[in-house]
Amino acid sequence: MTDAMRKTASTARKAAAEGIVMLENKNGALPLKRGEKIAIFGRCQIDYNAGGTGSGGSVHTEYQSDILSALENSGASVNRALADFYRNWVSKNPPSDGGGMWASRPLFREEPELDDGFVRKTAESSDTAVMVIGRSAGEEQDSFFGKGGWLLTDTELNTLKALRGYFKKVIVLLNVPAVIDTSWAGELKIDALLYIWQGGQEGGEAVADVLCGVSPSGRLTDTIAKNYSDYPSSAGYDEGDKIYYKEDIFVGYRYFESFCPEKVLYPFGFGLSYTEFKISCRSAVISGGEIRLKAAVRNMGKMPGKEVVQVYAEPPECPLPRPKITLAEFAKTHILSPGEEQELEIKFPLSRLSYYDDRDACYRVDKGVYRLVLAKNVRDRSVVVRFELYKDEVLRRCRSLAAPTEAFERLCGFDENGPLYEKTPVKKAERRRENLPAEVIRPGKKKFMLHDVREGNISINEFVAPLSNKDLACICRGEGMNSKHVRPGTGTAFGGVSRGLSKLGIPAAAGTDGPSGLRFDNGDKATLVPIGTMLACSWNKKLIFDIYRRIGGEMRENGVDLLLGPGFNIHRNPLCGRNFEYFSEDPYVSGAAAASALNGLRTKHVCGTLKHIAANNREKGRKTSDSILSERALREIYLKPLEYAVELSKPEAIMTAYNAVNGEMCGSNYEMLTGIIRGEYGFSGMIMTDWWAGLGRASSPSRRDSAAMLRAGCDIYMVHKSPKTNSGADNTLAALKDGSLTRGELQQAAKNILRLVMKLPCVERGK
Ligand code: BGC
Repeated sequence: MTDAMRKTASTARKAAAEGIVMLENKNGALPLKRGEKIAIFGRCQIDYNAGGTGSGGSVHTEYQSDILSALENSGASVNRALADFYRNWVSKNPPSDGGGMWASRPLFREEPELDDGFVRKTAESSDTAVMVIGRSAGEEQDSFFGKGGWLLTDTELNTLKALRGYFKKVIVLLNVPAVIDTSWAGELKIDALLYIWQGGQEGGEAVADVLCGVSPSGRLTDTIAKNYSDYPSSAGYDEGDKIYYKEDIFVGYRYFESFCPEKVLYPFGFGLSYTEFKISCRSAVISGGEIRLKAAVRNMGKMPGKEVVQVYAEPPECPLPRPKITLAEFAKTHILSPGEEQELEIKFPLSRLSYYDDRDACYRVDKGVYRLVLAKNVRDRSVVVRFELYKDEVLRRCRSLAAPTEAFERLCGFDENGPLYEKTPVKKAERRRENLPAEVIRPGKKKFMLHDVREGNISINEFVAPLSNKDLACICRGEGMNSKHVRPGTGTAFGGVSRGLSKLGIPAAAGTDGPSGLRFDNGDKATLVPIGTMLACSWNKKLIFDIYRRIGGEMRENGVDLLLGPGFNIHRNPLCGRNFEYFSEDPYVSGAAAASALNGLRTKHVCGTLKHIAANNREKGRKTSDSILSERALREIYLKPLEYAVELSKPEAIMTAYNAVNGEMCGSNYEMLTGIIRGEYGFSGMIMTDWWAGLGRASSPSRRDSAAMLRAGCDIYMVHKSPKTNSGADNTLAALKDGSLTRGELQQAAKNILRLVMKLPCVERGK
């Protein structure tokens, strides 16, 4: 184990402990008391789910902690006979590998049927039952509404009932990639309930830390509803290739808090601690388009702990349907000792309170009284500050872009009979090709070296001007997987992927997955960190920064330049297989977490790739599905994390999603990529496709239509076996010939790629 790995592991343990969310703790059931005898049930105490499956989770680790051993080692008094029983069961009933594919681990694993007598007898020699319930999900593997997915299996439920019958205290730990049905906890009067998520290779230790006394400080980044059917995206979620985002901007708490708060079991932002905090507002100032708050947090209880101050905004009446409340900013304290107080300065721009008006394509704030709530969760209204805006303001004028091209209904409110819908504004499909990048021309054929650009001797334009179409086309193809141009086992090499290109001093940059640690296909080891959802549940930007700084350290040690992560799609529905990689149902939490991650990587002079742009919210049919959503939902919810990330961190690279958005595959979606992301947000980095993604219209996607990709402002196709020989048979050169692609467009893409390559450590390696 290398030094970098040791450092990552120790930060990962802290992050896993901070991401645990405690939802119930009746009569101080936790932390465990000294000498308290615990009986641990459920195979996942040993067979711990450390991460999700697929590219975002398949990290080869040096070791894996588990809950049982961690508790035993921490000195907890664990029922030995039961531990032996489960060790034996797990070794005799290994989980099926579902066929051995990277993404086909079973969603749940068989548990032993325990008879009543067994449970009763175990209870006689123990004080407390701890039950671990596990689920898995991942890339190309959505969860499902049924027993073993969203619902508990009969065996899990029967075991819980038996535990409730015989034990004084029952503690349940949910070792899951995303929210699952939690309604049974109330019915069975579970004493303590914790989402322990999937905590990476140190996850077992982190669970022991929290059970034995580290105060949990995680808060939900998703709403837990009473029933799956309460989520507005649940009806027909896994049906069809066209996915209509009928709930529009009303995702997660935006929906529940606006229309049906009674359907919520645990609200967004909620989480308990072993101590109590009091939040108060010291000052609130609005000036120069910025809101500045000073919040004081005092630990009123008897144990040390951390608190999160969440600032929500409640807007005044609005001509368009608006969520009643949205998160504007948040901050976390350090560990406060009993009685200690900390003052937090929280500031954010007024634009965080704006909405997108798709009647005339602009962002607005309306006049009227706004309420800012300094809260412990979205329901808490104990500290409210009011301020008034005296005139309506248009903060930014845009153009109508990437709008749906077919009519569908979107949610706009509720009345006594239920949801109300209106028609979404529709636009005729058109392909905009305006302001085409001009071809850069330079007299003479003299070629330069890339370091001449780095050293400021020539401009990037002068460098690309003499390059042949063939060379330019080659730059716009990534090589993978396991390219020989870079260290073995990585997802891609890009930049100098042919002899001709390396002769020009273009190094080959290595990119690999992400986000939960480095994935090397050849089995090389790296550290598996907690899943994205868990990191976000820490509500600790600094901690996310630290985790990614550590991942950056491992990248340097391994000759990896670009991480294919973090993932930051919105949690639209709890069954999406890749939710684990992503952060939250809230765009600001997602964008702020992503920005912290990128900033952390940069301290090691490596970069990250934000993925997957955009609206990749279901794994089933992910390569052919078409997400149909209003321009408003696209900008206010699904692209918003990226807009925040650009504001907070200036990302260097993004990856488009496999699916289409409003009829156009994401990798060739001109209006989304060039129009909104580059044009409006000012993103100036490299855009790549997902691996072997289809391009062009959603009705007839093709892997070969690189011309459509380049025209759209997506720079590089991932991946070819051999970029030089055009092994993917793309149409770049043919399109140049027939005029449907210009040399200027191709040069522009090559420049975006080379600018990134020049920032990466590969330029030093190549010397
Ligand atoms: C995933 C990406 C990943 C890529 C390379 C694709 O299947 O969707 O997120 O980065 O593979 O492993």
